[in-house]
Amino acid sequence: MKFTLDTTLATDLDTACLVIGVFEKTPLHGSAELVDQACAGALLQLIKSGDVSTDWKDTTLLHGLEGVAANRILVLGCGEPEKFNSVRFDSVCAVAGRFLRDHTTTSAHICLHEIEVDQTTDYWRLRQAAVNLERANYRYTTTKPAKDDDKKPLNSATFNASADMQAALEEARGFAKGYLRSKQLGNLPPNICNPAFLADTANELAKIYDNVSVEILEEDQMAELKMSALLAVGRGSDNESKLIILKYQGKDETSQPTVLVGKGITFDSGGLSLKPGANMEQMKFDMGGAASVIGAFEACAEMQLPTNLICIVAAAENMPDGNACRPGDVLTSMSGKTIEILNTDAEGRLVLCDALTYSQRFNPAVLIDVATLTGAAVVALGHHASVIMSKHDELAEALIEAGEAAVDRGWRLPIWDDYQPQLKSGYADMKNVGGMAAGSITAGCFLSRFTEGQRWAHIDCAGSTWIWGGDIGSTGRPVGLLTQFLINQA
Ligand code: BES
Ligand code: MN
Ligand code: ZN
Repeated sequence: MKFTLDTTLATDLDTACLVIGVFEKTPLHGSAELVDQACAGALLQLIKSGDVSTDWKDTTLLHGLEGVAANRILVLGCGEPEKFNSVRFDSVCAVAGRFLRDHTTTSAHICLHEIEVDQTTDYWRLRQAAVNLERANYRYTTTKPAKDDDKKPLNSATFNASADMQAALEEARGFAKGYLRSKQLGNLPPNICNPAFLADTANELAKIYDNVSVEILEEDQMAELKMSALLAVGRGSDNESKLIILKYQGKDETSQPTVLVGKGITFDSGGLSLKPGANMEQMKFDMGGAASVIGAFEACAEMQLPTNLICIVAAAENMPDGNACRPGDVLTSMSGKTIEILNTDAEGRLVLCDALTYSQRFNPAVLIDVATLTGAAVVALGHHASVIMSKHDELAEALIEAGEAAVDRGWRLPIWDDYQPQLKSGYADMKNVGGMAAGSITAGCFLSRFTEGQRWAHIDCAGSTWIWGGDIGSTGRPVGLLTQFLINQA
């Protein structure tokens, strides 16, 4: 979508749709107030009569309001001003985006960032308005193309702000690119988005940006590196596993990189520990961690952040087959540590442990893995927050802060050594499952054994990266959290 700034008075602008926000029982301000003045108080009258709702997330479309040049006015209810905050602001912008996507208009003039939100700047509100608009404007069409008479998504938006806000729009473009990439990868069916497809996507990025390079390790190269844990997961699949390494150089070579590692299980059937049939299709989203590290990587490249970033994707498909790994198998990981497999459905940690071991050759300043690792993360925090674990308080706090600033929140769970004994095995250094109790934490504890001495955090995005049912599918999260973290670091 094309974003531009336009300071023409909202009442004078000839636009298909003017988008404003109104609070409950509160005087109008900014463009909303101008509109009301131009139409001799008709807007306030419509609010008073209840024809225009001020309830949070309600929408009303007005036509041909006298004195206003716009063809339509979309009024977004913001609810009670006391309850309004950055999260509510974000959802108002997303509601506007969905409304416009599903309406005939293909352009709009946005004034939502004029809405007052405690502890936010104009810059932030403009950025979030643009990001949310573009995120909400996304529609999956790859295998279900739009029909001619379908409502058209927006192709351009103007924002009521002056040229000094251009940087906010540029930043928004970066976030939006990352989110859309992640959403698209997540939504693609697993017969299209397989490990090779993820590798192709990485190759594509390296072609677009001069300071991006890519390396794809094939199964024989991984075998040479002794990545037996990663390879065990893909052994039951005809789709070859790949280790994808994307490098972005935005700073001198000697500067230590941030390394993001993503779980890229393009389909998780559970393997021989087969998942139940119901809802198994949802396991196409099991590459949500990979999608979001690729998305954040693209956002970083798009914004040309002054930082060095490496993105590693462990891409594999977890399938049952005569050659698949079994419960009872003992694997020797790249680190030399041995792992007894008790459940082939705990495969994410197996691909990640080797990718994490591999990542350490880049001498990371920070190491973060992102994965749809456990159903227990969904049980713990639902769809509202990603689970964050780290033994480094300042790193955990920096990630939580970034999540708040991007309204893509994370919440911390402990990763105390007290949980480690749950991984004890009689046949190997550890087993790959830790039992019923604290399933997300024991998965984190498993990974911690492969990141010793690193400034490392683990993000479990099983709950945040997709929502089944409705028309959401992949949310693209936690691209926002990661991108904001990269901006804050750079
Ligand atoms: N990909 C799943 C985790 C998952 C489950 C994400 C449901 C989103 C929704 C992961 O590979 C998995 O199967 N984890 C198991 C681990 C268990 C076998 C220890 C789980 O969470 O049940
Ligand atoms: Mn699994
Ligand atoms: Zn999985």
